[in-house]
Amino acid sequence: IYKWYRSGLNRWHGPGSTPDFQDIIEDRCYNYTQRIRPDSRSRNCQEIKQAFMSAFISKDPCKATKEDYRRLIDLADPTVPCNKRVLWSKTKELAREYAKLRGLVTLEDTLLGFLADRLHWCGEPGSPDLNTWSCPDWEKDCRTNYRSVFWEVLSERFAESACGTVQVVLDGSLENAFNEMSIFGRVEAPNLKPMVTLQAWLVHDPGKPPRDSCSGSSITKLKSILSERNVRFICRDNLSRDEFLGRF
Ligand code: APR
Repeated sequence: IYKWYRSGLNRWHGPGSTPDFQDIIEDRCYNYTQRIRPDSRSRNCQEIKQAFMSAFISKDPCKATKEDYRRLIDLADPTVPCNKRVLWSKTKELAREYAKLRGLVTLEDTLLGFLADRLHWCGEPGSPDLNTWSCPDWEKDCRTNYRSVFWEVLSERFAESACGTVQVVLDGSLENAFNEMSIFGRVEAPNLKPMVTLQAWLVHDPGKPPRDSCSGSSITKLKSILSERNVRFICRDNLSRDEFLGRF
């Protein structure tokens, strides 16, 4: 019984594929290309959906490669301005709110980021269906799962094609506002182009004291990653949410 369980659809430790994944992708694609960014109206949503599905359907959910997403990325390469980008780590909602107020963009404002935001997906070898019971967890099962690799590929491209000043919103209530193992730490910071300026904001949660600062050890680590790449760095800490969003 144990063996059956471990080899079945239930064996992974992460949430299963989001129900109606395909329909959600299709709906979001039409919404984005026709309503949210009509300048991307020429994108073919059927083709994009097919490319997304064929990236992972029938495949071992722990053997994702960047190559699997190549076709999808080629069909939906981002067209957002390179000098208006906002990165984040543990602060997605706040970063999105900030970006919206300032006319800036996060990865979730690009077509592929918008399509996949908050969704889960994985397949099963030999099956045409998504596994809606469970999908591999980054820590407990495998790092090369399709969801993680997707966000890594997208994030890498988003960071390496950024120009001018790039903002990053970090959670100042954490002991380490900068985490080297996060996507921002592993993938985005190390792929910024020389001459870019990274502006970091350390924002603490309402009702929580600031724990990390611009002079703390985690930010010092970030500084050293950036200085090796000739990326300029500006940091502001001790900001409450309201100060950060500009409502005093
Ligand atoms: N929706 C759901 N999950 C996401 C999304 C999203 N829009 N973006 C990223 N993820 C996944 C990734 O697997 C990521 O590791 O959720 C995790 C978010 O973890 P955090 O520790 O909060 O942040 P971090 O790992 O630093 O990733 C966020 O990566 O996707 C980029 O531009 C984005 O700067 C941002 C950073």
